[in-house]
This record gives sequence, structure tokens and C-alpha cells, in this order.
Amino acid sequence: MQTKVFLNEKDIPKKWYNIAADLPTPLQPPLGPDGNPVSPDMLAPVFPMNLIEQEVSQKRWIDIPQGVLEILYRWRPSPLHRAHFLEKALGTPARIYYKNESVSPAGSHKPNTAVAQAWYNKEFGIKKLTTETGAGQWGSALAFACGLIGLECKVFMVRISFEQKPMRKVMMQTWGATCIPSPSPETKAGRDVLAAHPDTPGSLGIAISEAVEAAVTDTTGETRYSLGSVLNHVLLHQTIIGQEAKQQLKMFGEKKVDIVIGCAGGGSNFAGISFPFVSDKINGKNIEVIPVEPTSCPTLTKGPFIYDHGDIAKMTPLLPMHSLGHSFVPAPIHSGGLRYHGMAPLVSQCVVEGLMTPMAIPQTECFRAALIFAKTEGLIIAPETSHAVAAVIRKAKEAKEEGKEKVILFNLSGHGLMDLYGYDLFLQNKLVDHELHQDDVNEALAELKDLPKPSLSKTGKW
Ligand SMILES: Cc1ncc(COP(=O)(O)O)c(C=O)c1O
Repeated sequence: MQTKVFLNEKDIPKKWYNIAADLPTPLQPPLGPDGNPVSPDMLAPVFPMNLIEQEVSQKRWIDIPQGVLEILYRWRPSPLHRAHFLEKALGTPARIYYKNESVSPAGSHKPNTAVAQAWYNKEFGIKKLTTETGAGQWGSALAFACGLIGLECKVFMVRISFEQKPMRKVMMQTWGATCIPSPSPETKAGRDVLAAHPDTPGSLGIAISEAVEAAVTDTTGETRYSLGSVLNHVLLHQTIIGQEAKQQLKMFGEKKVDIVIGCAGGGSNFAGISFPFVSDKINGKNIEVIPVEPTSCPTLTKGPFIYDHGDIAKMTPLLPMHSLGHSFVPAPIHSGGLRYHGMAPLVSQCVVEGLMTPMAIPQTECFRAALIFAKTEGLIIAPETSHAVAAVIRKAKEAKEEGKEKVILFNLSGHGLMDLYGYDLFLQNKLVDHELHQDDVNEALAELKDLPKPSLSKTGKW
């Protein structure tokens, strides 16, 4: 009984896969405040030009620099496991596989792009990076990458997560970074929010505003901002996950995959596992591709596809994406990394096209799924990841009812060893579900009514 397969280091993918080259309906450009497309030069105070080039690239395959690979080898290729024990507990005929991204030093998929981004910034002569973090996974990942590569790093951590997961700050400090709760008095964006809502739990939208402001107001010109999800280049760096998984599924003897699942906050781990398979779907394969989100932050299932800002202070360009509105502050659920009002434009465009079928699940069902996973497969997963597992369990039960031997692949995006406070509350029966009603969504969206609208056109093939 094969339980997991490893790839040799020499078989690590040497290129990232850029789905922008293959989208049936092209990605629409980000827009500036005047409604015109943003030029690469306009992004230059925020990101180094080598990453901006990746952001706008239409090349299908982009070489991974040797310097990046040498760091990724510390934990990559990551193992692909067959979830025999979960299958047995569910009595399902489905074969369930998971890509274990929790084996990275920071504990999630986030270092795949943190290393690449820190490396490109260093190449460009940048000395310091600023960023936001929700659950703390991204902040830890960037702290780790900057520590290895030799950059300063400052992290604005969403206040509710800062309080729920204090040890994440210690991880960041151990790698040499600074971590402060957001909103903070250090930036204008933070001060404005604190003045209006002193007790706010914070949000990714607020923390992004603070981190961007901290980068662009550094007059030395040696600081840039780094984003852990949403943007094209971030998703690109994660495609190493799905490419490895493809090779490993073959090693397990699988000829096809029926369902690919990942949790979706800004969309990066989900894109990482799924885009190489979406490429197969575009080319005729029949694969169900499911991004999973919380019912309390249902960006893809209840948010329209619109142009919206990525942050509360409207410092980012307008992105064509599914959104609940940039001023939307999600309920303080324990999946901090899924509390984001928007979604990656690349994922959003695939949803518009019908290539993906999003699903929203309440947090108590997710924690129940996490407990089943811990008691069968053994791993204590991140609350974000538990959304993927809850969807897998739904699909595996469906396969049982239908009597079908489906092959299900999901991304285990991170471990939950820094998230035990959430587990504790769940075990004490203190967690509640938050259902967001369409009326509340409409309220947050009302202020966007005068913004430009992206085209909703699609080929109609899926
Ligand atoms: C373990 C884990 N999974 C998933 C996510 C969601 O982010 P993304 O949608 O970019 O993968 C996060 C974000 O912090 C995370 O920490």
C-alpha cells in the first residue's frame, strides 16, 4: 500500500506555468484612478521591475532562476500522499490524494513565492520589504525568505490574528523580521481606521494599505512591498505545486484526476495546485476544479465580478475580480488567511469562464473535517486548509452515494500548529458560524457603483 511518493530533486519543475497565456478569454488589465490601464511604470514604486515584468507576462513558461531553486530544494519537491485512512473512515470508493505543503520551514505553501519575491527584489537592489499577513503564514514565509536572502522585512499583521496567534510574531522575529498589529498608528491608513473604529479586528484590506504606504513613503527608494497572494506573479510562483503533483499522481499509477480542490483566500495555493490541471481542462479534459471559501467571506459565491481595489485605502489599482467590496471587514473567523474581500483576477476570470465551480463552507463544518483528518491521517491542518478538507469529504461522500471511483486531489496548504487557539475554541463548542446575506453584500458594494465594469464575456464552452 503506497502512502506517499517523493520526487527526486532533479525532477523539480524548472519553469513556472503562466495560465495567462492559455485563458480562453483574456485577462482584463488593472486600471488606475482615471479608469485607464495601469502601465508597468506606475507600479515601479511598489514592486521591482523584474516582478512587474512577470506580472504582465503572456509567456506560457517562465524559467525558475537557479538561485531560487537552490533555496526551494530545502523542502521541495514536497510529498504527495494518498489519504488511505481518511478514505477508509469515510467508506468511500474515491481515491484521495493530498499535496503536503506544510513541510516548508514556515509551515505552508507561502514560501514558494516568498523566496522568489525576495530573490527578485534582492537582484533589483532592494534592501527592505514590507508586507501584510492574515493568519501569519505569509508574514512568517516572507520573514524566512528575507532572513535567508539578506533583506530587512516588516510585517503588518491583522490585529485579530496577532492576538489569536502570538507565536507567529515570534517566528517572524526569529528570522529577523519585525511584526506589528494592524491597524497601527505608524501609517496614515492605520491611523484613519483606528480613529473611526478603535476596536476593529483589522482586515487584510487594511493591512495591505499600511504595508503599501510604508513602502512607497520610504524616501530612500530601497523599500518595496510584497504581496502573498492575488497578483499574477504570486500565483505563477505557486504553480510548482500542481506540476509536481501531476508527476506524482503518475507515480501512483493514476491516469486521470476527476476533482481538484483547494481553499481560496486570495487564490494562490488553489491556483498553485489547480492551474496546471486547468490547462488540461482548457485542452479538453473533464476535471471539476473547486475553490473553497468560508461562508462568512464568500467572495466567489456571493461577490460579483467587478473592478475593485485590493485594499481599504484604495492604494492599489482597480483589479478585475470577484469582490465583496474593499471596505468589507469579514467576521473574525479562525481562518485569517481566508478573510479577504477580493480574489485573484486569474482565478476570478476562470470562474467567469466556467472553468471552476466555487463552494462556500461554514467554519464549524471545516473544524469538524479538520478533526476527522487529524484522527485519520494524523496531521493537524491550518483552519484555512480545513475548508479544502471539508469539501473533499463532501465530494468523497457524493462518490460513495454514486458508487463512483473518483480521483480527488487537494492541496494541504499548511499545518495548524500555530492555530491551536481556534481548535481549542472548537473543542469547547465555542465557535459559531457566520452566514453572510446578500443584503449585507449589496451594502458593501453600493459604494462601488460608479467604478468601471469589467467585461463578463466568456466562450460558453464550460
Ligand atoms: C495555510 C494557508 N492556506 C491558505 C491560505 C489562503 O491564501 P491563498 O488563497 O493565497 O492560498 C493562507 C493564507 O494565509 C494560509 O495561511
